[in-house]
Amino acid sequence: MVKWLENAVFYEIYPQSFQDSNGDGIGDFKGIIRRLDYIRDLGCNAIWMNPCFVSPFYDAGYDVTDFYQAAPRYGTNEDLKELFDEVHRRDMHILLDLVAGHTSLESPWFKASCLAEENDWTSRFIWTDSVMEETGEISGIRNWLRGISERDGAVAMNCFSTQPALNYGFGEVTKPWQTAADSPEAEQGRLLLQDIMSFWLDMGCDGFRVDMAASLVKADPGHKWTKRLWQQVRAFLDEHYPQAVLISEWGDPKEAIEAGFHMDFLLHSGPTCYMKLFRENPYFSRKGTGDISQFVQTYESYYQLTKQKGYCCIPSGNHDMKRMRATLDEEEMKLAFAFLFTMPGCPFLYYGDETGMRYLEDLTSKEGGYDRTGSRTPMQWDHSVNAGFSTAPAEKLYLPLDTDPARPTVASMTKDSHSLYHTVRELTALRHAHKALQGSGEIRFLYAEPDSYPFLYERQAEDETLLVILNPSDRTCECPLSRRPGEIIFSCRRDDGSDELFWQNGRLQTPPCSAIICRY
Ligand code: NOJ
Repeated sequence: MVKWLENAVFYEIYPQSFQDSNGDGIGDFKGIIRRLDYIRDLGCNAIWMNPCFVSPFYDAGYDVTDFYQAAPRYGTNEDLKELFDEVHRRDMHILLDLVAGHTSLESPWFKASCLAEENDWTSRFIWTDSVMEETGEISGIRNWLRGISERDGAVAMNCFSTQPALNYGFGEVTKPWQTAADSPEAEQGRLLLQDIMSFWLDMGCDGFRVDMAASLVKADPGHKWTKRLWQQVRAFLDEHYPQAVLISEWGDPKEAIEAGFHMDFLLHSGPTCYMKLFRENPYFSRKGTGDISQFVQTYESYYQLTKQKGYCCIPSGNHDMKRMRATLDEEEMKLAFAFLFTMPGCPFLYYGDETGMRYLEDLTSKEGGYDRTGSRTPMQWDHSVNAGFSTAPAEKLYLPLDTDPARPTVASMTKDSHSLYHTVRELTALRHAHKALQGSGEIRFLYAEPDSYPFLYERQAEDETLLVILNPSDRTCECPLSRRPGEIIFSCRRDDGSDELFWQNGRLQTPPCSAIICRY
């Protein structure tokens, strides 16, 4: 494991919406540099930034035209290098987003592959032999474009119809136009990925979040060949860039870590019951109707299979799902964060979640955002024009700001010592101070029963054991606990005189709406 990950707390930046420095209404690298001290002071020491490369932006930059060139709207490659340097000057790290599975329709590689005359790119995307060929269902291929090329053939898309799939071969070859996963074409695909990675690592980035990492080889049961491909990439990185970090958008930590990733996300779309935590009948709602047991069951199985090899990472949210604030209020979010920042692996905080930024309903889709658009609005910094995001006229902003006069801002949150922002700071500081709470501190679940509150687990490293007691429900709840908890080192609870934490004869009573961390 790369050493700095042990104590890493990530902050995800959607570059369009974080900080505009030149008044054009869209965020940029220099804007991010201006806000690095803020991120560091929040207790986040690592950044994942969404794609920032030349793109027609049909999918917010996940449709890349030039993998070696920063999108001019964010700045130049030199500006991006300056961002890397400024990050490192603060003892922080930064991961870029590597869109490994596809390009944009405007990519010169794709354009070359559309030509009738054979060239270097002819077999580097997935083309059938004839434009009308019926393809049937093929796992890993979302849809096909037909009639867009002088070449005769239909071409496979990885996600939207603007994202032609690069050809990494097929696990099961059933048609003459399919190449095998160990064909020279597939091998060239991997070498190209390695070249792109080397380019940015040489410039100073610390690694990559890999988009749709499981999608590369098509018709690949059990992801056998996709795993092999990533294992080869990892061997290359270990040899040439041993400090480079890889985190996958895979959604199955067991497979992803076997494939060579250091970490994988628990995803909204995966089978991990992630959504039950903060979003769908969320456990962290004070209604107290949630169920943590399914999450724990799935998490525990991943944890046992991956511990000491890699991390399962839990995000507060990301650019693909509704913000946590859509289902939880600020008080509930404090308890959700007490969980997030005390779990193994690396916590990922989505920009603005530390202030309880809202999901904006019914926004017109921007850059392929659709219902994700409301989670991608400009960061609200202060009470100056455009909430301090940009000096552009309001109508030129990348997306509109939350118009609610009570919208949360960093300025208002930092002033209020009881705010969500301060709870996040307290929790990140606690995590940095206690090895037991960091990436590879052991976790043992003590109470996580179906349809039940509270939720208890212990974290342990070296000679320290800490007990995390979470009772998000609006009622006093009890559970068995064999030993009396020790000194309280963190407490977040309703200030209404309701019951204290109380232990007697092997039973623990927990106050309503509380998160308490004790020595144990
Ligand atoms: C996952 C990314 O997170 C999402 O935003 C994007 O639309 C798809 N992959 C396609 O690249």
